[in-house]
Amino acid sequence: MSMTEVRADVINLGEPSFWGRPLPERYEAFAELRRTPGLTFHEAPVFSGMPESPGWYAAVRMDDIHEISRHPEIYSNGVGAIRTFDWPEPFWDVFESIIAMDDPRHARLRRLVSRSFTPGILRRVEESIQRIAAEIVDSVQARGECDFVHDIAAALPLKVICDMVGIADDEYEFVFEKSSMILGAEDPEYAAQFPDFFTALMSSAHDLIGLIERHCDEREKNPTEDLTSVLVHAEVDGEKLTRAEIGRFFILLLVAGNETTRNAIAHGMRYLTENPDQRAIWAADFDGVAPTAVDEIVRYASPVIYMRRTVAEATTLSGQPLAVGDKIVMYYQAADRDEAHFEDPERFDVLRSPNLHVGFGGPGPHFCLGAHLARREITVMFRELFRRLPDIHTTAAPDLLLGDFVFGVKRQACAFTPVTAAKV
Ligand code: HEM
Repeated sequence: MSMTEVRADVINLGEPSFWGRPLPERYEAFAELRRTPGLTFHEAPVFSGMPESPGWYAAVRMDDIHEISRHPEIYSNGVGAIRTFDWPEPFWDVFESIIAMDDPRHARLRRLVSRSFTPGILRRVEESIQRIAAEIVDSVQARGECDFVHDIAAALPLKVICDMVGIADDEYEFVFEKSSMILGAEDPEYAAQFPDFFTALMSSAHDLIGLIERHCDEREKNPTEDLTSVLVHAEVDGEKLTRAEIGRFFILLLVAGNETTRNAIAHGMRYLTENPDQRAIWAADFDGVAPTAVDEIVRYASPVIYMRRTVAEATTLSGQPLAVGDKIVMYYQAADRDEAHFEDPERFDVLRSPNLHVGFGGPGPHFCLGAHLARREITVMFRELFRRLPDIHTTAAPDLLLGDFVFGVKRQACAFTPVTAAKV
């Protein structure tokens, strides 16, 4: 289908091939859906090894996403969970964490884990972001070219979370592979390693839980200053987290904190290459422009394409009656280009202000717990790159992940003038 032929009644966001279409077509399809009154319904795809699941209504306008996010009592996270498909029973054992809960359980656990981000942990994280960003540039600077995703963007968020949690250097690759699988299991490249989608997700999650449980056992005996230790010993109102709750929270951190930030950095590098005028504005006043530039990268990419809710009380949204049990999917990537909300939304503008995007979620209890951390990581990585590899740029189209949930980049060629260690 060409861009001019896009019509709301032929757009099926449940069709896996939709997510492999060229990006301009994807954004034009979102624009068409935004212009369509009411809510459109999309048929669910079939994933191998997974139970069949009904389709969903798509929320693509900013106002609808705000309304849904603000009313968790109507739009639940804990029923069926947050992907377009309903989680089969075994998924709850490994993935049920705050993002798949409603209050009061959500509030209790979120309070507990938020309090675990103590000043000591945050100081440790701040130091590790700077050190790791510098080490990343050290490791590529002499080469003149590299895979921006594997060698630069992926390493920072993964190492920061591993450091925070207390996972050793020699376990990075293992964690990288398993967490990539959980979010990329629809992509044929990753799926080929497993008999089906269900097995890919479950086996990767079990491998990560095994690793985390070993760490919890060690911290139980020998407390340290990392997050694992804080969580193993933390108490709120006399309650401790169970081992299973800690395991599932780490999976959420690894999955939520890694790929999202990695993809924001990778897309950001491409946007800066494609928009040299914007890059020049940022380079001229890095620290002054960083706060708006970083949020513009997150808006323009919207690395989490959607979050789903399930209707818990019959209601009406944008004129569409919704019954209990209906699924509603908030397409952040569509709302972040809503013309009714952003001036010239297709323009990548590092000075955009205000920029009330929903890249980190809408206003509500599930708003991203790691937004501050993600902003710091993106800022520090680009500061290090601008300072030490000032002409770094992408040299080819990105190799994008095929999937509807995470706007992922698998590989991204980049080049820069090599720097020898002596010059640093
Ligand atoms: C650019 C990077 C990131 C993006 C785009 C992003 C985006 C999101 C989105 C869209 C949500 C769901 C909001 C909702 O349902 O209302 C979310 C939730 C969450 N994020 Fe992030 N995130 C990023 C980085 C991180 C990092 C670095 C961490 C932690 C290390 C993190 C941890 C979480 C957690 C724990 C939740 C669940 C919060 C809850 O349910 O109460 N995220 N994020």
